[in-house]
Amino acid sequence: MFYIEELCKYEGQEVTIKGWIYNRRSSGKIVFLLIRDGTGIVQSVVSKKDVPDDIFRLCDMIPYESSVIITGIVNKDSRAPGGYELLFKNIKIVSLSEEYPISPKEHGIDFLLEHRHLWIRSKKQFAIMKIRAICIKAICDYFDSRGFIRLDAPLLTPSACEGTTTLFEIPYFDNKAYLSQSGQLYNEAGCMAFGRVYCFGPTFRAEKSKTRRHLTEFWQVEPEMAWETLQDAMGRAEELVEYIVECVLNKNTRELEILDRKIEVLKKIKRPFERITYSKAVKLLDIEWGGDFGAPDETKLSNMFHKPIFVTGYPKGVKAFYMKRDPEDDRISLSFDMLAPEGYGEIIGGGQREDDITQLKERIKEYNLPKEEYKWYLDLRRYGTCPHSGFGLGVERTVTWICGIHHVRETIPFPRTIDRIYP
Ligand code: 4AD
Ligand code: MG
Repeated sequence: MFYIEELCKYEGQEVTIKGWIYNRRSSGKIVFLLIRDGTGIVQSVVSKKDVPDDIFRLCDMIPYESSVIITGIVNKDSRAPGGYELLFKNIKIVSLSEEYPISPKEHGIDFLLEHRHLWIRSKKQFAIMKIRAICIKAICDYFDSRGFIRLDAPLLTPSACEGTTTLFEIPYFDNKAYLSQSGQLYNEAGCMAFGRVYCFGPTFRAEKSKTRRHLTEFWQVEPEMAWETLQDAMGRAEELVEYIVECVLNKNTRELEILDRKIEVLKKIKRPFERITYSKAVKLLDIEWGGDFGAPDETKLSNMFHKPIFVTGYPKGVKAFYMKRDPEDDRISLSFDMLAPEGYGEIIGGGQREDDITQLKERIKEYNLPKEEYKWYLDLRRYGTCPHSGFGLGVERTVTWICGIHHVRETIPFPRTIDRIYP
């Protein structure tokens, strides 16, 4: 098999490409065919004078997205998209497409989402998915090469991790279960067994939010480290994000260009990232101390910086039950968020965990959580408890920022939101 992204290796040679008609332009005497094969797009020019009439007529009317096998000679041409074109020799139709619903003209977002199964074929979506794949690989490489073991957390769970208001409840035989909001609690068990662990998979939030940052199903990578503090976790978060951006810059120049994303902006994403306290952020935003940031606050704050920033020390009330309290100020938790710049907002949430069993029991009571379900979690504080910390990075929010696009829904193959579960 020959693939479009490898055509540069075959200059002057005859190749056969299996793919789909991405676009077609015709002047009556010449037809420009754009063929895509999932690795790239190549142009092939068909001249009326050079090919039999029936072949020319076929090329002149072939519907978009028909599947074809096309043969030609690879020719270097700086004017062609991708730098190479295919000097047309022959074409075989595998399937003539029905009239394709997505045309180069603008479509409304609802129409595109309704046709997401076809929309992912288009150039921009293709670029975003390729960048997503590189981010995911970078994340795994980062942890795998630093002594972490990947330990998957269950998706069917008996209890809440991130607050009961965003839980998806499902019937589980004679009982109830919940879709996991986070693998963290299981990671805490994992890090007491293996030292450093991470889980990586889908997580779910029944969030009634319609913002450009919210999905009901999103991918989260969550590292958890025994013996590490809040500061240690922040150091790792910073290094991870720098590494992800570096990998995208190395591997996705073509895709960033398709998205019109300025690489100078991404090249600035180098450690150290600024650290500001929640209290300072509240002053910058001129809002009242004690509440969580709303989406507009986050946008405002993250517009003030050119690199991601850390916000640390959120009030205990806005964070989850497992956060350790600051020993110097009981009103605040040993927590952090990382906010991406340019108005993108939170991409990471994390902190140091409560390792004291008495404190944790109180917290479970305070948060009205069913204590039987957390018995195993308390065991972790009974048998060799120690300081430990971790965080969760949302893949889609990170990809949205790196791609410089508006909405998180374009960064996952099949987005699930409050008003969409099809296709
Ligand atoms: O801040 P969150 O809720 O933190 C946790 O779940 C912790 N248990 C993680 C940990 O410490 N192990 O979520 C972590 C990240 C957010 O920063 C955000 O990037 C992403 O997950 N996220 C969402 N992404 C898309 N849609 C949503 N509804 C999201 N909710 C959170
Ligand atoms: Mg958060």
